[in-house]
Amino acid sequence: MNHFINLKDIPAKDLRKILIDAKKRKKARKKLNNLENDVGVPLKGKLLIQMFEKSSLRTRLSFYLAIKQLGGSTITLRPDELHLSKGGESIEDTAKILSNFGNAFMLRTDRDIKLVEFKKHLSIPIINGLSPSSHPTQILSDVFTVEEIKKKPISKLNITWIGDSNNVLNSLIAASIKFSFKLRIGCPKNYQPNQEILNYIKKNENKISIYDDPKRAVTGADVIFSDKVISMNDKVNRYKKLSFFKKFKINKKLMGFAKKNCIFLHCLPRGSEVDEDVFSSKKSKVWQQALNRVHVQKSILLYCFGKLR
Ligand code: CP
Ligand code: NVA
Repeated sequence: MNHFINLKDIPAKDLRKILIDAKKRKKARKKLNNLENDVGVPLKGKLLIQMFEKSSLRTRLSFYLAIKQLGGSTITLRPDELHLSKGGESIEDTAKILSNFGNAFMLRTDRDIKLVEFKKHLSIPIINGLSPSSHPTQILSDVFTVEEIKKKPISKLNITWIGDSNNVLNSLIAASIKFSFKLRIGCPKNYQPNQEILNYIKKNENKISIYDDPKRAVTGADVIFSDKVISMNDKVNRYKKLSFFKKFKINKKLMGFAKKNCIFLHCLPRGSEVDEDVFSSKKSKVWQQALNRVHVQKSILLYCFGKLR
């Protein structure tokens, strides 16, 4: 059994194995409908319990289809309907029940510490479906999308992030170290990654550079990633924060500094960080990116169950 909490804690060879499995599975079910099972139904009879303390569309749906295609099932718990959130039951007791009733637990949480606490008391795998500090299932799937579109290992590509130093970027930084790709980050000076992340970058041999000039950050890029300036967990003055990001808006002019065949990716939902004419252009691969989450979630689940082929 394996947990899936942060990319930085998962061996690079396991992350690569997940991607290889996802590629094979995606190819093998080209003619199947969404709810038809993968050959072999490897998670037959297994129950994935999901809980979202924050909104979700893609993560929710992709885990639903993922476990179904593998032959299992899922139930989604609403935190406001549990004793846990009202303070009437501990994480420890909740975790014991989850472990007895289910086979894996996917948590989208508003506090990182809850992942650690649940992990301590669960005897089933826990998957981080987004926390304030990371979004590992998203980024692993995005590495899959990049390699699928570019038809090369991500280590041979120049990746750029334009936007806030948030959970998605933290996971992209971890991926850059695990998969050894060049990452240029473009963000305002006062919104650069925090000291802990900077230390992590420094401690690992890395190919990461940070710019407060968006043009320099996108120069030579094969892929430009972005995300909302205001994340779900942000408790900030929206107007003030958005004003710092004005010159980081992704428009055609900025895309012009990247390579000619540069693609645009965004985990969604979007805000005002990208112009409509980039978002809806041929360079934008956001719908393919979103759909690939199903394929990668499946291989993440198999990894967690110790069943990767
Ligand atoms: N990208 C992503 O995680 O989307 P949701 O918040 O809709 O799950
Ligand atoms: N950074 C965003 C990602 C949403 C999928 C957030 O945390 O709100």
